[in-house]
This record gives sequence, structure tokens and C-alpha cells, in this order.
Amino acid sequence: MCGIIGYVGPEQAQNFILDGLATLEYRGYDSTGLVVINDDGAKLVRSVGRVSSVRDELAGKPLIGKLGIGHTRWATHGAPLERNAHPHTDSDKQFYVVHNGIVENFQDIKTMLEAQSVTFKSDTDTEVIPQLLAYNYKKLGDVKEAFLKTIRSLKGAYSVVMVTPLSPDTMYAARLSSPLVIGIGDKENFIASDPTPIMEHTKKVIFLNDYEAAVITAESCEIIHIKKGKLAKRIPEELEYDPEQALLGDHPNFMIKEVYEAPQTVRSALLGRLRVEQKLIKLGGLELVEEQLRYIDRIIIVSCGTSFYASLVGEYLIEEIAGIPVEVQQASEFKYRVEPLNRSTMVIAVSQSGETADTLAALEKVAGYGVLRLGVVNAVGSSIARLTDAGVYCHAGSEQSVASTKAFIAQVTVLALIALYLSDGNTPLYEEMINELDKLPAKIEAILKLEPAIKKLAKKYSHHRDFLYIGRRYMYPVALEGALKLKELSYIHAEGYAGGEMKHGPLAMIDENFPTMALALDGELFEKTMSNIQEIKARGGPVIAICNDPAKLKDLADDVIKIPKTIEQLQPLLAAIPLQLFAYHCALALGRNVDRPRNLAKSVTVE
Ligand code: AGP
Repeated sequence: MCGIIGYVGPEQAQNFILDGLATLEYRGYDSTGLVVINDDGAKLVRSVGRVSSVRDELAGKPLIGKLGIGHTRWATHGAPLERNAHPHTDSDKQFYVVHNGIVENFQDIKTMLEAQSVTFKSDTDTEVIPQLLAYNYKKLGDVKEAFLKTIRSLKGAYSVVMVTPLSPDTMYAARLSSPLVIGIGDKENFIASDPTPIMEHTKKVIFLNDYEAAVITAESCEIIHIKKGKLAKRIPEELEYDPEQALLGDHPNFMIKEVYEAPQTVRSALLGRLRVEQKLIKLGGLELVEEQLRYIDRIIIVSCGTSFYASLVGEYLIEEIAGIPVEVQQASEFKYRVEPLNRSTMVIAVSQSGETADTLAALEKVAGYGVLRLGVVNAVGSSIARLTDAGVYCHAGSEQSVASTKAFIAQVTVLALIALYLSDGNTPLYEEMINELDKLPAKIEAILKLEPAIKKLAKKYSHHRDFLYIGRRYMYPVALEGALKLKELSYIHAEGYAGGEMKHGPLAMIDENFPTMALALDGELFEKTMSNIQEIKARGGPVIAICNDPAKLKDLADDVIKIPKTIEQLQPLLAAIPLQLFAYHCALALGRNVDRPRNLAKSVTVE
């Protein structure tokens, strides 16, 4: 998601802008830029890279000016290139705009302006805003009126902030549906995509509502209702606390907070969708395409990372419950594959951020094939959500830690709902699934109470350099996901494997220095997994078993983690939790930054 920052007041704007963009880095981005207005006009700096590289570039020659705006960009329209970085300006370099979201009617506006011989320099939708503003200003001769007229012409989900040398003491802002908050300071004012960067300067804020514009100087802030054109009476509110600390609550970091949100995550994903008494699954987001769904005879799920492993669980669920063939593909592979696709194929994109470039590219690849495109996305209004024909939001709330935890739980829950929805009730598992889904939050809460014991295990095993995770059927994707969590958080090498594959190679690695996490839950494959554990123990390999009944493993596994039982199809929603906790505590034991693992970003918007 893009980050927006703006300042007007007695100080040099550049300082607040660069500090503010740095605090918004958690949103992830691929390019950044800022513009500062002074008596000589506008000074613009943009680059593909980190905020720190722009700061370094300006170290020797700071931008002087007390009005300015800045932006960190997630590429949606146009690759991450300097010419596509914000702020964008018009051909005469009069108006400078930063933008978050999508201008859906940008092509119509662009065509109209090109017919007026306006030439565009970037590949973005954003550039139409300053260009249209310049066009309207030429007609109206008034900056504010031209700004409001321009905003009224835009369709889509956006927030916009604009500055111009024509009005060198004023910021102009507008929100359609993407957050913007104004900080009311003492003879200085601020604007940002969220309160975090503003908090250290002022706690008096105005959250712009949808369809509101703001005209902001150092000492005034006028809010206008865009459609009615009238002043909106908005009283600044006091933010009693630091929103980031509030977000964290009494948790030490976002990751453990988000792991503990798993029970609420399941409840939110089920809310309004799982009708236990009526034995009904209601997915409003799919009702739009209900007719088309009847003709689907093949499903491809495209995703990356943790979302890919959630998709693998979805594959088993949809095939077993709805009886439709499913193939899960890593989005980065799918987009290059040459394979038959037709109108009876459905592509489902699974993504927490809704901005992952590979998954976006996979959807764009099939745009011309006439296939139905669904989204299972967490970030509302994100690019993937807007590119699909229909979908089911995860409603997990914002996930800030780079390692995806509650999003995995939400995605699997939603995929279980989709499987039940597509089954139309024609599965012997229907009632049992509905009843069990309803009981899951309480069972997850019971698992979270195991954290102290899991912390001890992490201390015991975190010195190892290698780890194997094994599982069968529904536990196989969980083994893969558990291995990814350990890898990305603790940097310990970990591999997930189907238990049945042990004899085909992995067993050769096993010795006393190569522990195995075995997902040995009750079910028809329990005995097979027991055999795996025996094979491993015979080679001296240490084994931690995630199980329902420790008595069955007491003479075999070195350590066990007992979790509540559920039906096999929903075991991933329970088994994933101890693996998240184990990876978390291994990382802490090794002194890692659990929210910001090295080399990783929260959402990978570059291919
Ligand atoms: C998982 O912990 C990682 N953060 C990463 O693998 C992530 O799941 C992947 O990049 C996909 O992101 P998305 O769900 O936002 O598309």
C-alpha cells in the first residue's frame, strides 16, 4: 500500500516528510519521492529504492521549503521506475500530486486530455490527476475550484494530496476511500496515510471521511464535502495514545499479537457467512457470479509464500468437499506457463496484501481468456481485490508483521467456506464441517495456552542448523508452512516434506543434528506418520510430534505438543498455531527481529 505524507508550517518540510515516510515503511514500497515548494518554485526528487537512499541523496543538498509532500509507492499501474514514482506533475510542472489507490476511469481522462494534445510521461493512472488539474485550472483560473472539479471527475478508490507553486502556502487533499489523516499542530499542519508519523508532533487529528476534501495552510484547515461543495464541520479529535502502541496492545511485537488474534480471525472470517442453525453458508461476494460458478469444472489457485500453502489446503478442501478438480500454482510460475484455459476454468488469487506482483501478474495474464477470477484477499480495496470479478475478503484486520500468521488462518477458513459453498450441501462432510468451524476459535484459544511449553521446546531446539517438517494429506501443506515460518523468522534452514517422501531421499539427511517436526494428528494416516517417526528415530533423529494423544507417542517422540482434536479437514487451522509459536520463540532465542526478518518485505510488489 502506498504511503502519503505532507507538511505545511514554519519548519523545513523535507525533515518531516522523510521521517514520516520512514515510519510508513512497514506498508512496503518499491519507489519513493517528495516535492518541496519555495519562492523559486517546486523542487522534486524521486527514486526507485528506499527512503534512506533519498535521504542520503539530499544529505548534501537539502530541499529548502516549508510546504511539501512525499510518497512511497507500491507499483499497481506501471513498473517501479523513476518516471512512475510519485509525486506526479503536469506537463507545465505547476501541480504536484501524490496518490494512494486506483483511478478506475483514468483511461477515459487520459484519452480526453491526449485529444487536447496533452502528453503523458508515465505509465501510471495517477498522472491523469495533475494533468486534468492543469486543464481545469486553465479554464477556471482558481486552484481550489480546479482541484475540486478534478476530484469530482475521478472514479475509483483513492486518496490524493496536491501542492503547487501557484498556492505556495497550501496543501490540497481529498479522500474517496483510502485513509487520510490531518494533524492539527501549533501554527503547522500535517497530513498522512495513517496517524503514526503525526503522533510525535500533535495528537489533534481529523480523519478525512469519504468524499471529503481539505484545504490546509499552516494555520487553517477547511474541510469541504466534495459532492455538495459545502464546508463540512469537523472538530479535531485527540488521539489519546500512540496508534502503533495501541495496535500492539500489551504485546511486545506485532507477530505474537497477530498469532493471538487467530481465534478472533476465525470468528471474523465466519461472521455473517456461517449460519450454523440454518446449516447455511452465505458468501455475498460470490452471489454476483453464482450463475457462472455452475459451469466451473476446473479451478486454478495462484498465490505465493504462506498464501500458497493456505491454497494447498484449499485444494484438498475444494476437491474433497465440492468435487471440483483444483490445481495450486505458485503465481511466479503460473504467469509463464503455457496451459489450456477456458471459460469453465476459474482462477482464484489468494493474497493477504492484495498487492503481490506475481499474483497480480498471474491475474493479468488470464484477463483475456474469459476465465472467472476470484479473490481471497485480506486488504480491502487492494489491487488484486479490484482486479478480480468477485471474491471473499478475509477480514483478518491489518497484518503488520512480515511473517504471515493470522492471514494463513483466515485464508484457510475462507477456503473452507468456499468449498462448502461450492458443494451446495452435497457432501457428507457438510454438517460436521459447519459444526466444527463454529467450535474452532475456542480450540485455538486452548492451543495458545501452550505457549510457555512451546517456548521451552524452542530453547531446546533453536541451536540446530537444519529442521525437517513432515505431514500427510491436510498436514502436508501445514508442514510446508511450518518450515517457511521457521526459515523466515529464525533463519534456520527448514524443509517441509510429504511424510510419504521420506524414503525417497530426505531420510539420508537424518542424524542427531537434524530434528524433525512430525505432524502426527489422529486420523486415517496416523499410523503412516508413526512409521515415519520410527524410521527417523532409528537413525538417531530427534522428533517433536504435534499430536492429539501423547500416549500413542510416549516411547517414540522426544517431545510432544498435544492439541485439541477436530475433523481432519480442519486440522490445519489448529496445527499451524503451535508451529507459528515454535518459529517465533526460536527466532527470539536467536535474537532475531520477529517483525522485520532480514531481506524480507511485508508484501512483495516487485516481480
Ligand atoms: C509469509 O510469512 C511471507 N510474508 C510471504 O511468504 C507472503 O506470504 C507472500 O509474500 C505472499 O504475500 P501475500 O499473501 O500478501 O500475497
